[in-house]
Amino acid sequence: MLEDWMLERIRVVNHPYAQAVLTKLRDRRTGQIDFRKGLVRLGRVLGLELVKEFEIKEVTVETPLGPAKGVAIPGMDNVVIITILRAAMPLTEGLIKVFPAARQGVVSARRVEEKGMRPGYEFEIEITYVKIPEIKHEDTVIIADPMLATGSTMVSIMDEVLKRGRAKRYFIASVISTPVGIAKVLKKFRDVDLKIYTVAIDEVINEMGYIVPGLGDAGDRAFGG
Ligand code: URA
Repeated sequence: MLEDWMLERIRVVNHPYAQAVLTKLRDRRTGQIDFRKGLVRLGRVLGLELVKEFEIKEVTVETPLGPAKGVAIPGMDNVVIITILRAAMPLTEGLIKVFPAARQGVVSARRVEEKGMRPGYEFEIEITYVKIPEIKHEDTVIIADPMLATGSTMVSIMDEVLKRGRAKRYFIASVISTPVGIAKVLKKFRDVDLKIYTVAIDEVINEMGYIVPGLGDAGDRAFGG
């Protein structure tokens, strides 16, 4: 299902810490507070992994005792983080710890679940609010969404984001993704420099459009229903 060119655009964060936090999130016994904290932690881990994509500049600074060689990451000042309400809020909280200077956008989108899932794992998407800062060509855009399930929501969000100007590159920061969602998004935006960072890939989407085993409804679990 995932072609070679797609695999080149996916990064699965296999760090044992990330996997342990994810396991706690998957556990149905994990309550709202710990669930939200877990998403924040994974946002930070995803952010740290994303930093590896940035160009590093060697610099020298003066300590009180003399010169010391070090590095700077200038591109971190040109980051836009887009939060998909509401489940991505804790994920963004973690990402912001790594990219404190990021400009932020929010999009409120929901799958119209009442109309059901159509063939091809398609949902109608209702977007009710979009506030995205101007995007410049030197920017790195990170779209935070914990669950990349069918890809329908992400395709609509990407359409909205691309209307705001073309950035240098785009990343999706996700906790669990499916091959269906990954393939749908990457195919639709093949000409965009887009990579997907995720902590796990689960194969199955059920008839309601939920990831199996997944972790359930991320919004409900993070915000108490
Ligand atoms: N959104 C969720 O919160 N969970 C899923 O499994 C799919 C979409």
